[in-house]
Formats: sequence, structure tokens, C-alpha cells
Amino acid sequence: MKVFIGSAEQVAKEAAKRYVELLNKKPNAVLGYATGSTPLGLYSELIRLNQAGAFSYKEATTFNLDEYVGLDGSHDQSYRYFMNENLFNHVDIDKSRTFVPSGLDTSAETAAAYDEAIEKAGGIDIQLLGIGNNGHIGFNEPGTPFSSKTHMVELTQNTREVNSRFFKSIDEVPTHAVTMGVKTVMNAKSIILIALGKAKAPIIRETIMGEVTPEVPASVLQLHPFVEIYLDEEAASLL
Ligand code: PGA
Repeated sequence: MKVFIGSAEQVAKEAAKRYVELLNKKPNAVLGYATGSTPLGLYSELIRLNQAGAFSYKEATTFNLDEYVGLDGSHDQSYRYFMNENLFNHVDIDKSRTFVPSGLDTSAETAAAYDEAIEKAGGIDIQLLGIGNNGHIGFNEPGTPFSSKTHMVELTQNTREVNSRFFKSIDEVPTHAVTMGVKTVMNAKSIILIALGKAKAPIIRETIMGEVTPEVPASVLQLHPFVEIYLDEEAASLL
């Protein structure tokens, strides 16, 4: 694992460089994207660089990690909506090649088709990850088998509480989500994990220095050959 530590702004700029390098070398790259507060700085930087002509998304394909069950893409808390608002609407991407798991069709067949679509596209070149305070990656909560592919999950109470800041009340936070599995994530050719803020420091320590265990889903990244972890000083403070 390579670890980069800097300010939140440096993290966004440094991580964005990986995308510029990749897309200039391989314009039809396949990107795994993530939602949440963490990637917002990176997405702003990618928008700036894309609009400045530093790289193009025209031939790229994207697959997002997860989506809430029950939310249509037009719902302002859906992850499809988040991606459109925070990245896709502002860059030269062909939206028909941007994929987010369906929050409405939760069948096992549709979940399996998501993994197949990733494989058919050639596999993910860079998978972007945030991390939950409990170590989740995507919505793979503690205890998720490392062999899991895209599947529906029940969100933990902790995750629903943490995410309730985006909803009017906790009752409105969906109880389930569809997420890429741990194996889907590990199949990516390279992985960028970003963590910002003091609240993430304990789980970052466990992820990097602790035991590899499904109880800390992100610890599986120790087994991946190409992982870069970008941290601000606070998230890195217990290393
Ligand atoms: P955050 O979420 O970026 O909003 O902290 C990360 C996650 O839960 O994976």
C-alpha cells in the first residue's frame, strides 16, 4: 500500500493526477466511482481539469459502487443524482456509459449483470473508495464475506445514523442498498482510497496496520497489489 498524506486540497490534487495520467494513456479507461462527502474535492478538481482540457472522459466508462434501495435516480439523495450533480453534468462524459446499480431492481440477476457488465467493459482500471467509520467499503458492512459480488445489503444502524445528515430525518434513510461486493472491488486493477478528518483516524489505523478480517472490510485492501491511500493529516494522525 502506498500512503500519501497532505492537506485535503493536496489529496484532491494528487489523486486527480492519477485520473489525468490514466485517461491520457487509456482514453477508454473504466473507472469505479464513489459517493459521500470524501470524493467531493477530487470531483471538483476533475471537473476543473476536464474543463481546462487536461483530459477527456469522452471514451471512458464508469461504474459506481452502490445505490440506496427504493430511490429512483431522480431522487436528490440517490447516488445517481449525486454523480450527475457532482461530476457527470460538468464534464465531457457520455452519460450512457455511466453506470450506477439500480436501487429499484434488487433481483440477484440484475446484481449479477452489474458484475458481468464490469467484466465485459474490461474490468475497472481505478476503483475509488471512501471508508465508513466501521470500515465499510461501498456498503459492505462488517462481516461481509470477502468473496461477495454485487448484492443487496441491509444497512447497519450506525451507517443510517451517519448518513441521516443528508435526509430530513433518520426515518427517511433507506434501510437497504445495492453494493458492489468486496470481491468486485478487489477485482479492480488499482484502488484509490481517500479518508479525511479525525473521525476516520481509528479505522484508517486498523485498515492499514490491523488484522485482515471481514470485521474490518477495508482491511482486505492489504491483500491487493495496487492500492494508494490518500489521507489528510487528521485521518493519518494515528498511524
Ligand atoms: P463519507 O462516506 O465520504 O461521507 O465519509 C464514506 C463512506 O461511508 O464510505
